[in-house]
Order: sequence, then C-alpha cells, then structure tokens
Amino acid sequence: MRVLSPAKINLHLRVGPKQLDGFHPLVTWMVTVGLFDTLDFSLDTAGRVGLSCSDPSLPVDDRNLVVRAARLLQAEAARTSGGESSISGPVAGEPGVRIELLKVIPTGGGLGGGSSNAAVTLIALNELWGLNLPRQRLSELAAGIGSDVPFFLGGPSGICPSTICSSAICTGRGEVVSRVDSPSATWVVLMLPDMSMPTPAVYRQFDQMPFSPGWNEAIGWSQQCPPAEELLRLLRNDLEPSAFAISPELGRLRKTAETLVSRPVRMSGSGSSLFTLFSDREVAEKAAFLIHSQLALRTMTVPIAVISNLQK
Ligand code: C5P
Repeated sequence: MRVLSPAKINLHLRVGPKQLDGFHPLVTWMVTVGLFDTLDFSLDTAGRVGLSCSDPSLPVDDRNLVVRAARLLQAEAARTSGGESSISGPVAGEPGVRIELLKVIPTGGGLGGGSSNAAVTLIALNELWGLNLPRQRLSELAAGIGSDVPFFLGGPSGICPSTICSSAICTGRGEVVSRVDSPSATWVVLMLPDMSMPTPAVYRQFDQMPFSPGWNEAIGWSQQCPPAEELLRLLRNDLEPSAFAISPELGRLRKTAETLVSRPVRMSGSGSSLFTLFSDREVAEKAAFLIHSQLALRTMTVPIAVISNLQK
C-alpha cells in the first residue's frame, strides 16, 4: 500500500497563555499543501514493526512518530482482540508491518511532516490490518502522538475512511478539529530557510514575551472566504515574535521577502518555514523565483488544500 503524506501550513495561529499541563491553548487554521512524503506499507507476518527512511539523519526507532503510531495501533489491535499489549516488541500472530518512508517535507520547518506521516500510518494500518477502528478512536490515538496529528485525520467524524483532511480550524492544544472550507484557487509560495526551529523552545520563548490578548477571537468574513491577497491581511501567527527572537535572521528574511513581493509573508507553526499566498499561479511562480534569486532561499510554489487518498 502506497500513501502520499501531505505537509500542512498554519494559515492563522493564535496562542493563549500556558496551561497547567504545560501546553498552550490554540486557535489555528490549518490546510494541507501540495508537498508530500511517500510511505509504502507491506505486511510483516512475524509481527515486527520496521521502518526505513530515505533521510539518514532521522531516527527509525520509537523516536520516529511513524513507529510510535504503528506500535500504538498494534497494541490497540491486541487489546481489541483480547490479547496482551505488545508495545515493547513483536508477538507471533500479531499484525506487523515494514514501512519505507521517502522524505521530502523538511523537518523542523513547521510543516507537520512527522505528524502527517503518523496520521497516514494510523489510517493505512487500520486498513492493511483490517482493524476497522472508528475515526473517533484513531483521533484519540493521534492526540497521544502529537498535537498536530488529529488535524490530518479530520476530527472524530472523519471524512471517508481513507482520506486526509485538507482544511480545519483546530483548538484545544491543536487536537480539537472542525473541518472548514479551504480558500479556493490559492497558490502557496513556500520559503524554506535552511534552519530547524525546535517547537518547545519557541513556546518557552513565547512565555517570556509580552502577551497579546484576543488570541481566541475568531477570524471571519460575512459571506465567502476572500481571495488570497485580501485573506493574507487577516492572518497572523502569534509565534512569530518568539521565533524571530530566537533567530533574528529568520525575522529579517521574512521582512525582506515581504518587501520583495509587496504582500504579507507569514511563518507556519513554530517556523522556520515562511509562506505567502496568490490567486494566480504564474504570479506566484514569478514571486518565488524573485525570492529565491534575491534571498538565496529555497522556494516552492504549491497548491493549497490537497486531499490525499490512500493508493494501493
Ligand atoms: O504536541 P507536540 O508534541 O507537537 O508538542 C511539542 C511541544 O510544543 C510540546 O512539548 C510543548 O512544549 C509545545 N506545545 C505547546 N502547546 C501546544 C502545542 C505544543 O506548548 N498547543
């Protein structure tokens, strides 16, 4: 079974003060974008979970969210069939899997690659192992893996069983998912600085910075979602000042890119990826080329809100 695993961007990200559990309450609008990792799944009848990855710098043990997702599902399968949990190792007769991960989405870029990989692993193995777990249960397992993982599952009611969510408002610590329409005909220019931003450090920095109230106000419009150029002016990311305090270079890149393309440039998640939006693909591609040539930044022009079906 081969599955495409899309990246996400946070179009809008508002962050509230840290809660007792150490997490921050969020209001974020996440959409998938047309940048994909690929995962290949094949059954292992000896009950093993094995991962190989095209990027040798990534761990392929329990530190990888793909392995965590597979093991959680394996334990769930054992529980629902009345067996013992196998979270610590292979048990004969249990479903196993060999996973090959072709990595394209940059890591540490705020593009949710690891979370997306974990979500598609839950969906694919639910099908490959014939578990028929409801989306509600997959969403609960997803939330235990990471705050961004439930988004890709599209919430407890799910979409159709093998589809990835493409646009949702997420609240709580990110795990409460309400699907919404995506902005139509929008092209995203992604700017991918060659730096990795550690999410916990960005949130720690956020706790040291002056807090801006109104984080839980809804963004909205009376009728239809406005076109890309207007929409951009309504969007913000409360983690930008914290990320730019950690990396002033990233802040400078954002400002210069904004001047170059004469429109707002936002950061995705906790960074380091930056993005801007266009209604017209050709104009987007020209802007991407300008940013690439003037700022020596890797850029990509990709469609917004792609849906990935499982491919077999
Ligand atoms: O849930 P996830 O593993 O992606 O979170 C990584 C880290 O980001 C957490 O350990 C926490 O420090 C921070 N975080 C947060 N509030 C959130 C989401 C993440 O403080 N809503």
